[in-house]
Amino acid sequence: MSAHSVPGTTAAPSTGHAPGDDPVLVVEQLSASIAGQQVVEDVSLSVAAHGVTAVLGRNGVGKTSTLRALLGLIDRTGRVTLAGQRIDRLPTHKIVQRGVGYVPEDREVFAGLTVAENLRLAERDEHPRRELVERLFPDLTARRDQRAGTLSGGQQQMVSLARALLNDNTVLLIDEPTKGLAPKVVDEVAVALEEAARDVPILLVEQNLEVVRRLARTAVVIEGGTVVHTGSAQALLDDEELTQRLLGVHVEAAEVAP
Ligand SMILES: Nc1ncnc2c1ncn2[C@@H]1O[C@H](COP(=O)(O)OP(=O)(O)O)[C@@H](O)[C@H]1O
Ligand SMILES: [Mg+2]
Repeated sequence: MSAHSVPGTTAAPSTGHAPGDDPVLVVEQLSASIAGQQVVEDVSLSVAAHGVTAVLGRNGVGKTSTLRALLGLIDRTGRVTLAGQRIDRLPTHKIVQRGVGYVPEDREVFAGLTVAENLRLAERDEHPRRELVERLFPDLTARRDQRAGTLSGGQQQMVSLARALLNDNTVLLIDEPTKGLAPKVVDEVAVALEEAARDVPILLVEQNLEVVRRLARTAVVIEGGTVVHTGSAQALLDDEELTQRLLGVHVEAAEVAP
């Protein structure tokens, strides 16, 4: 079924990808509250069928809450279609079964279990993609018997990403995978994400603008729980005034990827 046959999906913001390349996930007027406080307000965005779509914004603007609302982890209203099918009324487990993979903000691993056990517990499909994971994360194969709690932050992030990549997901929601990592490790995670994005489209919340520049075609900026800008990631990051105004950061020339 084509997403174009679903009324309303054509009203999604343009993401600049090729015509006929329907977005995999279309979010329209998503709103959500936590403890009576509205944290997501009329968020509309679409995730391209290929590659990385980035969500940017200062701390506390509602990026994580948007992902949690998409997954039905917090009460929400609005319309969400995954590959043309509504998922906004489904409970979380059904959304996960439809192929929405989640890599949460604080790289949740089972600290007391080995790497191999962490990965085995994540396997949902009949034929988990172990070869893909072994190819992307050779370090994890070497450390398969090590307890995940004794891994470095970067290695734990790899476990967290690997858990999502083992299953044949339709889209991945990945929340700040490079947060708190050393620059060299940020690079390693970025390489893994770049590779992963060849396989599955990714909605990536990311504060590291170098990583955004390298990976994302489209950037969606959130402020105060709502979308305040959607467009080419490159164009946004090249626009010093806009980046400063929307993200409160000054993009140094040195940050431009080679
Ligand atoms: N469990 C919670 N209880 C109460 N307020 C929360 C909770 N989680 C998030 N919030 C509030 O929701 C808003 C958005 O938070 P969040 O989505 O985590 O932002 P971001 O990911 O952009 O940093 C913030 O004001 C935050 O304080
Ligand atoms: Mg967050």
